Amino acid sequence: MKIAVLPGDGIGTEIVAEAIRVLNVLDLNFEMETALVGGAAYEAHGHPLPEATLKLAKEADAVLFGAVGDWKYDKLERQFRPEQAILGLRKNLGLFANFRPAICYEQLVGASSLKPELVAGLDILIVRELTGDIYFGQPRGRRTAVDGHFPGAEEAFDTMRYSRPEIERIAHVAFQAARKRDKRVTSVDKANVLETFQFWKDVVTEVGKEYPDVALDHMYVDNAAMQLVKAPKKFDVIVTGNMFGDILSDAAAMLTGSIGMLPSASLNASNQGLYEPSHGSAPDIAGKGIANPLATILSAAMMLRFSLNQTEAADRIESAVKQVLASGLRTSDIWSAGTTKVSTIEMGDAVVAAITKT
Ligand code: NAI
Ligand code: MG
Repeated sequence: MKIAVLPGDGIGTEIVAEAIRVLNVLDLNFEMETALVGGAAYEAHGHPLPEATLKLAKEADAVLFGAVGDWKYDKLERQFRPEQAILGLRKNLGLFANFRPAICYEQLVGASSLKPELVAGLDILIVRELTGDIYFGQPRGRRTAVDGHFPGAEEAFDTMRYSRPEIERIAHVAFQAARKRDKRVTSVDKANVLETFQFWKDVVTEVGKEYPDVALDHMYVDNAAMQLVKAPKKFDVIVTGNMFGDILSDAAAMLTGSIGMLPSASLNASNQGLYEPSHGSAPDIAGKGIANPLATILSAAMMLRFSLNQTEAADRIESAVKQVLASGLRTSDIWSAGTTKVSTIEMGDAVVAAITKT
């Protein structure tokens, strides 16, 4: 089992270090190799995704990624910006399925700004298609309008499109994920207005017939946004396109208390994946030793489950995290009165200790 470790920038190095310590106490004979990515790679090699880093990622069974970016790179030409490394990895590895679980740990119910009864016990999974939709559809650009409301005026346009195979493969991923959970899929679309999403709905419905054990329903995206805030626990698995998924997964993140708790996975057709926290490089707290490493540690657990077939080890990490939270330890992002504030390293220590005990 080979893991490419790409810590990146800012808090990326601090939080990945803790995830590595956690992986090491599992005694599973991983081969781990580290490489530069993002701003760190740009500084050293003049490119955010150097050839050697991409080669390592391609050869590995999984990539454990920290975060990239810093405000100091904002003025660089787009191709040299740290964030381009993520897009390059997604494209080159064919990562089309993005998993964003939104779990509200019982111990953190108070940390969410929402009513406790709304989020206590929340455990939903958003499956977002990552390579298609209006973000990548051609043609796109600017031109002088020849028709429409203002002929002759300057206008801009993008193209929303999805092909049948693209919808089929993400639908299969969602139904299979639901089989391991509560066996319910909600497909989110805008079929009432968009041809692309009427097609999406038709194709998801067809794929759903292959999964008679999984309940499928359909919801318009505007209603889904409302339901996520009103009654989020009604969902099990949500499957949707690239743009709707981008927006809904960030909204769902806020149901859970802190972005420092949220892992994510992006998978390709051979279950090779990139695992990273949902947050960025947090330059405002980088180097202070206070970042929450749990999103990255939980991403490592997802990596064990989805790409490395080590379900038991994944369970051990997840239950260790619950134990540590139950013992009252909190990094500052999730701290509240009556709990004990700890550093990044102390949080890592506690998870390692909890795993060693089991
Ligand atoms: P961010 O997620 O880095 O930070 C947002 C806020 O959450 C900050 O106040 C930060 O201190 C806090 N935060 C984030 N992670 C935390 C953790 N583990 N523990 C405690 N607090 C945490 O988003 P922001 O500030 O918009 O972006 C900063 C940089 O990160 C930018 O350069 C951006 O492009 C990049 N970024 C990179 C991503 C990636 O590598 N996948 C994703 C999102 C942003
Ligand atoms: Mg987003």
